Amino acid sequence: MKKIVIDPITRIEGHLRVEVEVDEDGVVREAYASGQLFRGIEMILKERDPRDAGLLAGRICGVCTNSHFRAAVSSVEDAYGIELPKNAQIVRDLMAMALFIQDHVVHFYHLHSLDFVDVTSALQADAALAVEEAKKYAKTQYESSFSHYEAVLLKLQNFVKAGRLGPFSNGYWGHSAYRLTTEQNLILLSHYLEALKFQTQLSKAVAIFGGKTPHPQSIVVGGVTSVADMLSPQRLNDYIFNIKEAKEFVDNAYMADMRLLAAAYRDDIKAGLGRSAGNFLSVGGYEFDERQKLFSSGVIYAHDFSKVEEFDESKITEEVDRAWYGTDGEVCYTDLNEDGTLKTAKNDDKYSWIKAPRYGGEAMESGPLARVLVSYLGGNEFIKPFVDEFLKESDLELLDLSTTVGRNAARAIESAYICEYVFKLVSDLLQNIKHDDTQTWTKYEFEKLPQNAKGRAFFEVPRGVLSHFVSIENQKIKNYSVIAPTTWNASPKDKDGKRGAYEEALIGIKIKDTAKPLEVLRVIHSFDPCLACAVHVVDAKGRELSSYRVRTV
Ligand code: NI
Repeated sequence: MKKIVIDPITRIEGHLRVEVEVDEDGVVREAYASGQLFRGIEMILKERDPRDAGLLAGRICGVCTNSHFRAAVSSVEDAYGIELPKNAQIVRDLMAMALFIQDHVVHFYHLHSLDFVDVTSALQADAALAVEEAKKYAKTQYESSFSHYEAVLLKLQNFVKAGRLGPFSNGYWGHSAYRLTTEQNLILLSHYLEALKFQTQLSKAVAIFGGKTPHPQSIVVGGVTSVADMLSPQRLNDYIFNIKEAKEFVDNAYMADMRLLAAAYRDDIKAGLGRSAGNFLSVGGYEFDERQKLFSSGVIYAHDFSKVEEFDESKITEEVDRAWYGTDGEVCYTDLNEDGTLKTAKNDDKYSWIKAPRYGGEAMESGPLARVLVSYLGGNEFIKPFVDEFLKESDLELLDLSTTVGRNAARAIESAYICEYVFKLVSDLLQNIKHDDTQTWTKYEFEKLPQNAKGRAFFEVPRGVLSHFVSIENQKIKNYSVIAPTTWNASPKDKDGKRGAYEEALIGIKIKDTAKPLEVLRVIHSFDPCLACAVHVVDAKGRELSSYRVRTV
């Protein structure tokens, strides 16, 4: 057995170390995913006014700011039993939807695509052939004229000549695991550059209702403050315009690139590369047209697509057997050798700052793939055509989505789906306003609220299931706890040795060149890791998540 250590894994948020043990054929037999950065924002929240929880928790991550901001405020609203006005709910959802699309586009193009795209190969491409190639994957091509590709080539050549490769400077260029043709590489690189525009535009869409982004300011306990924006036809139009532009890119570039990848990496998909244990968790959400939901909630075990179990939050547990905490939540860091060097993870050691959440005793995969599968199999009629169309055009089965490439496809499918249905939310909002319902805040008197209360909030956010738990005593935050999407996916092993989703997905991967483990990066990046989000201290011995009050609405 040979050990390969990748530390840090780059092009992600935060600091992740991955160790894999490979056999003499280069096949991964064991894997360890380790969150290397201690956080501890929960400690800052202690003794604070619960109304400030959102602004503080938003600082958990510089990318997922809006998700934590909202979840924190919602957990306090849950504790106090404060119901949101419909408009506030929609405005919060509109911010979330724009963030979903923004995160997904940035994830694929700027954090992940270079695991599939060889920049140096693109330089050899023929612009005229690229025009023809692009036609194979989209009925309407995105920016695919001869002159456009010539301009992209010129830009790339100038990067190279100036010796300033910037984001392209550190790839495993020329690696034999790169499979795209020169023209395909050029098409994806062209989209990489175009996607930079949408990253800005979609951020603007979040900021229209958030005041700013990252770290929006407009969500308060009881509602939202962006009343003037909500009532301004110009602001609503700006939001719609930004989403429409992004929709064109998602439909004609992002989805086309997924069809292209699915064709180029068909063998990897059919071999199940990057498949986790097949336990999927989704808490669902995002209502429109009164009763409909964008995502269904449910649980799938071991790729058994014949049934979707109902989600039951009392089945969530957390443990720290392999994480750097003691049973009382105290820090137990064990990763330094006597000479100050880092240990490599061993079978019986603690090896991560990330705790191990489990659902019904199982490690779960959370995120776009889980949402797409749970919604599709749970009978969500809205998402179905998006999934069916992609599978048909790519000649794939549902199980094929549970792979490295399929995980990306699920993220793109979800983006296209959201781009379509976000307009339903906008029209719900316009209907309310038309009927003179302009309420954005539920009035309450803080002094009259209970002294002690507990609340929690569960949300689907771009990277998966996010839950915040707050315990309030004497109207101050007594304890605060978070399980983020990456806490689920990047989980270390548990006391029974069950691997987290990243670890499980790495088993069986064949690494061609152990000095350049591109294959490992592909698997890990396909989950869209956010390590800044993932690390959360445990607050006390034997804390029971199920003791939080559950509101049945
Ligand atoms: Ni994050």
